[in-house]
Amino acid sequence: MGRERAAAALGRSGRGAAFDVWSPGRINLIGDHIDYSGGLVLPMAIDRGTSAVVFPREDRLLRGHSQNFPDAGVVTADIDSLDFDEDRGWFSYVLGVLWAARDEGMEMSSGFDIALTGDIPEGGGLSSSASVEMVVAMACERMYSPGWDATRWAVIGRRAENEYIGVASGIMDQLAIARGRRGMALLMDCSTLEVGYVDFPTDRATVLVANTKSPRRLADSAYNDRREAVETAARIVGARLGVGDGGLATVPPGDVEGCRAELTGAGVWAEAHHTVTEQARVVAAAEALAAGDVVEVGRLMRESHESLRDDFRVTGPHLDALAEAAWLTPGVIGARMTGAGFGGCTVNLVEVGMAEQAAVGISRRYAAATGITPEVFAVSPGAGAHVV
Ligand code: GLA
Repeated sequence: MGRERAAAALGRSGRGAAFDVWSPGRINLIGDHIDYSGGLVLPMAIDRGTSAVVFPREDRLLRGHSQNFPDAGVVTADIDSLDFDEDRGWFSYVLGVLWAARDEGMEMSSGFDIALTGDIPEGGGLSSSASVEMVVAMACERMYSPGWDATRWAVIGRRAENEYIGVASGIMDQLAIARGRRGMALLMDCSTLEVGYVDFPTDRATVLVANTKSPRRLADSAYNDRREAVETAARIVGARLGVGDGGLATVPPGDVEGCRAELTGAGVWAEAHHTVTEQARVVAAAEALAAGDVVEVGRLMRESHESLRDDFRVTGPHLDALAEAAWLTPGVIGARMTGAGFGGCTVNLVEVGMAEQAAVGISRRYAAATGITPEVFAVSPGAGAHVV
């Protein structure tokens, strides 16, 4: 978005000094619903996301406009009253980051105007909200210079999401978006927040994202239910084996298997089983990706989808239909749901040169099964959030 357009959207008379920020969205290649169990996950930042123009102000006002929510117009607040207010809609994602950063010691002497525009489908499981949070994080680092690194900002973004917005998400989205690198997938340890990088073999595979275009239903409550089930399982395994609270994903699968009767009795065996098997698949997929063995990555992606469908039960008919459409389509190496589930998008690994043909095949099969035409587009591994 150009500066002139941003200034006009914000109703600013003069352009004034401004700077630009870019923040990607993310896909997760494999490793869903294990970040909040201290697991390893394998996401990548993508070349779609949120761009912002920020105009520092001299007074204490905060004003925002988003081209994705044009009806909201220009939303205002000020740095002395950051308490949550539902009426502020999308702007709460901006204020939540300021609120959490201030709580961690960031000093703000003046406000800013911010104009946003994003090209990731909202509510599609590609982390449009974490993308906005990390745009604001980079804007704050530039404006207020607390001197924090990208990982610290990811933690602040997660606090905004958990404590301000009220969604009990894990750290994966903010960390992947903050630490993304062009051309690379990220192997992230969600218990230590260490990030390793794996070259994405663009000479062997292309990533297609497909959007079910089905609204996400009960996503937040179902997400919280699953988290609770996993926490119950972790308590049972912890009490039985005397392990610390590194998270259920860090427990060897055999040890969890040993607690099967108790976990079944508590009604949380399937969730525990998904957690430890998904963790093992991430480790195998990261090795295969590093070796350029995309066929093995694709096989593991399918197993992951099946585990999220059968054990964790977060796929639903639309994501299942879209994954199945892909599995039947020539040129597709692997496909699975990505993110929280309950609707949203699938991620598809496709043979190089087959992307267009595969997109048509996936769309046709999904439309035949559901009557809905999905949106399918290619993404490549992109840079993390940064001031442009
Ligand atoms: C959402 C959450 C993440 C993660 C995924 C599932 O995207 O924000 O923290 O739990 O779901 O892997």
